[in-house]
Amino acid sequence: MKVMSVVGARPQFVKLAAVAAAFGNMEHDHTIVHTGQHYDADLSDVFFTGLSIPEPHVHLGVGSGTHGVQTGTILAALDPVIAAAHPEWVLVYGDTNSTLAGALSAAKQHIPVAHLEAGLRSFNRRMPEEHNRVLTDHAADLLLAPTEEAVHHLAAEGLADRAVLTGDVMVDVCLRIRDKVLRDKATAVLPAFLNPQEPYLFATLHRAENTDHPDRLAALVDALASLPVPVALAAHPRLLARAEDFGIKLDHGSLHISRPLPYAELIRTVLGSRGVITDSGGLQKEAFLLERVCTTLRTETEWPETLRGGWNTLVPDPRELGSRAWPDIVLRPAPKSSRGMPYGDGKAAPRVVRALEDHMSGSQAR
Ligand code: UD1
Repeated sequence: MKVMSVVGARPQFVKLAAVAAAFGNMEHDHTIVHTGQHYDADLSDVFFTGLSIPEPHVHLGVGSGTHGVQTGTILAALDPVIAAAHPEWVLVYGDTNSTLAGALSAAKQHIPVAHLEAGLRSFNRRMPEEHNRVLTDHAADLLLAPTEEAVHHLAAEGLADRAVLTGDVMVDVCLRIRDKVLRDKATAVLPAFLNPQEPYLFATLHRAENTDHPDRLAALVDALASLPVPVALAAHPRLLARAEDFGIKLDHGSLHISRPLPYAELIRTVLGSRGVITDSGGLQKEAFLLERVCTTLRTETEWPETLRGGWNTLVPDPRELGSRAWPDIVLRPAPKSSRGMPYGDGKAAPRVVRALEDHMSGSQAR
């Protein structure tokens, strides 16, 4: 079986790590195309080296742009690559512009498309990720759903017959790296400004709806800086760029800024923390899997399972909480309730490969 993975942004590299490892033990021909959506070493190269992902076979080097330009540039650059390789599957991941462009290029060339992390919905049509995931699901032939909730969403849109519940491949990677980090405990180093004996929070902030409006960004930064414990914020380039554009100072009060963290560093920093504050989808789940409370700076989440029992909580706007409630929420104790295993057992990637094998002949018939 000839499978081409199309990836381009940081969370896709984490998912690819699990899939590439599953293909590594098999006869199949798995090639990797990197669109170049993320080009900074901190967002790309460190994931390939840190997670032992094979080098991409093709790098399109498309870089940044508006959504239309970025999606269109990837689409144009991918057409000849997919035509030359003529894979039996094009596998796209998650909800980025690279996902949608990969699905469209393949679908228009009658190459079967499989969508990993299918069926997630925020029901917020103002998010670029929501357009990307809905359109990709409807273009794809095989929908690899991480959760039962995702399967229900697909069924509600008439896509049940293309859906397969595989579990979430991010669990495979997160638990593997967690175990490695715990084994290497003796050599672990936290950033210099964090005292491992003192409680701290770990934060990230990068979504357009939080970073691209000056008032909102300033309010979120102030809310983080006012907390009574150190907040380690690993800053995405989008956050740094917008803060500079708007003249917002990031590194002040309790807030300490670092570069984006490589994956093992991220897991180590979350494990050492009292809790996480984020607008990232992946980090909400990583906090849940690592048993740290998470506060999500958004109005909704694609991962509602994390909300059960209070492991994750949505805070759309810290200003609405009043100054006393905000620290109490982010520093709340971990719930006693069991979290269950809504994201699967850490063996999703082999199930993804099996689903591709099982559905090969069916998809070729179209
Ligand atoms: C993208 C995804 C988002 C995902 C995130 C993970 C889309 C629509 N969004 O958002 O779903 O959660 O990746 O990080 O695809 N930039 C750099 N260096 C880089 C990459 C980007 O400086 O290596 C800058 C760009 O110039 C741009 C900004 O960051 O100004 C946004 O980058 P882009 O890839 O468009 O979106 P992300 O915010 O990273």
